[in-house]
Amino acid sequence: MENLNPSGCKVFAVGSGKGGVGKSTIAVNFAVALAQKGLSVGLLDADVYGPSIPIMLGLRRLSPQVQRSSDGKEKVLPFTKFGIKSISIGFFIEEARSVMWRGPILHGTLKKMLNEVIWGDLDVLILDLPPGTGDIQISIAQLLKIDGAIIVTTPQEVAMLDAIKAINAFDNLEIPLVGIIENMAGFTVPETGETFHIFGQGKGQELASRFNTKLLGSIPLIPEIRQGGDEGFPVAFHQGSQNNGSHFHILAEHFIRDFLAIQKNPFK
Ligand SMILES: Nc1ncnc2c1ncn2[C@@H]1O[C@H](COP(=O)(O)OP(=O)(O)OP(=O)(O)O)[C@@H](O)[C@H]1O
Ligand SMILES: [Mg+2]
Repeated sequence: MENLNPSGCKVFAVGSGKGGVGKSTIAVNFAVALAQKGLSVGLLDADVYGPSIPIMLGLRRLSPQVQRSSDGKEKVLPFTKFGIKSISIGFFIEEARSVMWRGPILHGTLKKMLNEVIWGDLDVLILDLPPGTGDIQISIAQLLKIDGAIIVTTPQEVAMLDAIKAINAFDNLEIPLVGIIENMAGFTVPETGETFHIFGQGKGQELASRFNTKLLGSIPLIPEIRQGGDEGFPVAFHQGSQNNGSHFHILAEHFIRDFLAIQKNPFK
């Protein structure tokens, strides 16, 4: 295993078994909420096949700057927006182009996103993973010392069954499980307050109990969360710690307390 952790920061991976359960949405809003609590946060879009970060951060069709470092090598500056630094393969290839790379090329690409990017001083690096347990998950486990995996599931049986597979795979890769986030947990009609459990109920807690871990959060279906993702303006930023962004802020507060015992240097 290599240890390409930028400046010895803590690294957490957001993964799932099933696709489309909200990993990227959570990774982005969680990273923004952590930054708003005063941490230096990096977000690495490890979903090389289907990068979402450029859209979700409003950085479509932009290319990062390249800088020549003191050793003469060219390095890439991550974008800084909404208080977080981010890098994605989406910044380097055309949006409509599909990536059909085999394992070794994926591995090399991920390595470059760690080695050839000027991450600077970070407290925490969040990895947005693709769904499942394939080449990318294996590569990141080889390239980084990962402090923990956060598994996202919707409250439905099929998502939970896939989440179990992902948890077991992370365990095989010796990545510790730090908790479960249940996403799309019910929709509450604002006018009436009535809640509809569109994807079922309770599976997040069931999964956490089964693996003796924490349910870190249960995030409802909120149209503004989807809208924020599509428009490139994460709810955790423009809603501050109120309303729709509050779920991510609560998550960030708990996370800092439980897993990021970082003493902030007030002069940094
Ligand atoms: N809590 C939520 N409320 C409303 N919409 C949501 C919520 N979470 C995610 N979404 C929306 O659901 C869709 C899928 O989310 P997202 O892309 O984050 O999932 P993913 O797990 O990263 O998918 P993939 O497996 O393809 O990487 C997006 O359109 C997103 O805006
Ligand atoms: Mg995604």
